[in-house]
This record gives sequence, C-alpha cells and structure tokens, in this order.
Amino acid sequence: MEYRFSKRIENIKPSAIREIFKYASDPRVVSLSAGNPSPDAFESEAIASICKSIFESRPIDALQYSVTEGYTPLREHMLGYMKQNHATGRDFDDILIMSGAQQIMEISAKILCNEGDYIICENPSFVGSLNSFRSIGTKLKGVGIENDGINIKELESALDKTPNVRIIYTIPNFQNPSGVTMSLEKRKALYELARKHDVMIIEDNPYGDLRYKGESIQNIKSFDDDGRVIYAGTFSKVIAPGLRVGYTIAPFEIAKKMVVAKQGEDVHSNILAQMICHEFLTKCGFDEKLLRLRHLYGKKAESAEKLLDKYVVPSGITYSSVEGGLFIWCRLPKNVDMLEFCSLAVREHGVAIVPGSAFMVDENDPCDYFRINFTAPSDERLEEGIKRLGDFALSYIP
Ligand SMILES: Cc1ncc(COP(=O)(O)O)c(C=O)c1O
Repeated sequence: MEYRFSKRIENIKPSAIREIFKYASDPRVVSLSAGNPSPDAFESEAIASICKSIFESRPIDALQYSVTEGYTPLREHMLGYMKQNHATGRDFDDILIMSGAQQIMEISAKILCNEGDYIICENPSFVGSLNSFRSIGTKLKGVGIENDGINIKELESALDKTPNVRIIYTIPNFQNPSGVTMSLEKRKALYELARKHDVMIIEDNPYGDLRYKGESIQNIKSFDDDGRVIYAGTFSKVIAPGLRVGYTIAPFEIAKKMVVAKQGEDVHSNILAQMICHEFLTKCGFDEKLLRLRHLYGKKAESAEKLLDKYVVPSGITYSSVEGGLFIWCRLPKNVDMLEFCSLAVREHGVAIVPGSAFMVDENDPCDYFRINFTAPSDERLEEGIKRLGDFALSYIP
C-alpha cells in the first residue's frame, strides 16, 4: 500500500535532529535536552489528595463530558488572578481553558490564517509552536533576536515586505530557546508595529512566573487597548505538564471562534485535570509554590552556570547568563560544525543537547548554538552531563 499524505503534514519534515532525540532516551545518556520541570517540583501528594477528594465528593463532574470553554471556577479564578497580578485581561476579553498552551498556538493560527498566510516569529523560536503553524499550512517569516528581544528594525522590514502577515508570535519572557527577555520598549514597539500593520499578536508566556533574578516586565497584553493580543498561559511549567492545561485570554470574538475550532479538535480539555488545577491554585498556596520553584530553579541555574564556567567555557563555548526559565543557550566557536558536535556528544559521549537549528524557521539556516536544560536532571546528573560535554568539547574544538 502506498500512502498519500497531505501537503500540510509533508511540511513537517523528520530531520537529523530527531535522530539525536532517539539516543536521549538511553538511560546511560545524561539528557540536557528536554524542557521538563524538575522531578522535585511536582506536588504529587497534594495532587493525590485533591484527586481523592474530587472522586469522593464530585466523581460525576470529573468523569462526565464538559463544556468547551473550560471549567467555570478555573476560568473565573484565572481571569481574576491575571487581572489582579498581571494587569492582563480587559472587559473585551474572555478566558478559555485549552489542552496546553500548544493548542492555543495551533487554534489561533487555524482561526486567523488561510493556507499560505504568514506568521512572523522570533528566529529561533519554540519548535512545537512552529510545527503547529506549519501543520495548518501557514508560512513562517523569522526575525532575529537581540539581547533585549526581537530585532525591531528587522520586524518592521518583515512587516513591510511580507505579504498576508496575520500574526506576530512572540515569547517575551525567557524565550525558548534563547533565554532572552524582551525589554518594555521593544514590547511597546512591537505592539505599535502590529497596530500599524493591523496584525494580531500571540504572546506566549510559559516562563514569566519563573524569574529568579531582576524585575518582571509587564505583559504585552497589559497594554492591549485594541484587542489584538491573544495571551497564552499554561500550568505546564508551574504545576505539571502531563495535566495538559493551559489558558488563553483573548477578545470575545476571537474566543468564540476558538471555541468552534476546539469543539472540532477535542471537545474540551481534560476536566479532571482542570479541576485539579483549580483546587491546587485555590487551596494549596500557589504563590508559595511559585516562590519554592523560583528558589529551586534559581539554585539549579546558578550551579549550571558554575559548571559551565568550570568545564565548558575553557573550550571556547560561550553562553548568556540566565535570569529565569529552564534553558541556557550556548554558542560554539564559528569554525565548529554544530550538528556534528551535538550528534557526537550524544552518540559517543553520552550527553544529549539540542542543536540550535531545531528552533530555526529554516533548519538549514546557519546556527552556532545549542540549548541545554538545567531543571530536569538531578544535581549529580547535571554535573556529570556538563562535565562530559566539557571534556568532549575540549577534545573536539580546535
Ligand atoms: C515557549 C513555549 N510555549 C509553549 C509550550 C508548550 O506548553 P504546553 O505544555 O502548555 O503545551 C512550551 C513548552 O515547552 C514552550 O517552551
């Protein structure tokens, strides 16, 4: 049988990079490649007791079909929380619960873009979102990133020159993979450009709550007077990614179309998971939980940087210090073949890192970077992984 696949799925090509991920599941390999929270970050006992109480008191609510918009108490709680704590959400906005933030990107593109329309994104950017956009047939236009966020001149030129741009997709806090946070000036400039060119913005913010140092910067959505920002939030990095619960704050008209699209995808997000999130947020001291997470990850980030300085930097690899998020973006010297470096690191030296090209709009674009995660491995495994990486880099880099 010869199978014929859609052009949409043909747009998402398997690549050499995915080969590297195959090795990362070998227990002998230290994986610095996943975007996973630390196993120490999960509140398993609290969640077990929440589940017990849900099944004792309201089992049918947790097991029955539910509404597409999401579990009302969770929606109401998050709308209030985001307004009060982040000035995010206006009278013209609604909130919907989605199956992870990833679904927000896919559904936003689905309702706003026709096949062949453009989405402008930071280059590099989160590959999961890029693949969601690709899967519905949109084209991607990448714009470079500087130390303080997207390159505004390049963005302006992309908006001027690219036909049918419908969305600017941005990750303003601790961008995945670069770790960069966009300055307030650039957030405002990006908003003004979107306004001038009448395009929507998706503000994807999974890491904003995970700032270990420095001052938070206000969300783009907080100055959205026009209703052109779709805000994407998630509990993946602050409660548990396996629950697959995210939320979007978006203008009513947009939310209404999102509901129609979501009905056709998965009817509603897992209702038990939504109830767990609501109970956790309202009864288990969520703000204290965030403080604990910041403390845990801040310490891990600090020790990862010390280990990089000790083992890896002497080889000529550089990195930018992190103030939040889960990743460190490392740069190889110019003359090194990045893909070969990453491939040999995992195949012959037992340490998995993610080649930077995985995050590029065009995987064939030149890229000297690789990404490491410091939250998922234990302290011992992190040291072992970074030491392996450094030993290999010293022997490999001329
Ligand atoms: C920038 C970014 N957006 C979205 C997601 C996906 O989040 P979720 O698990 O809520 O789908 C991730 C996950 O790593 C991410 O890094």
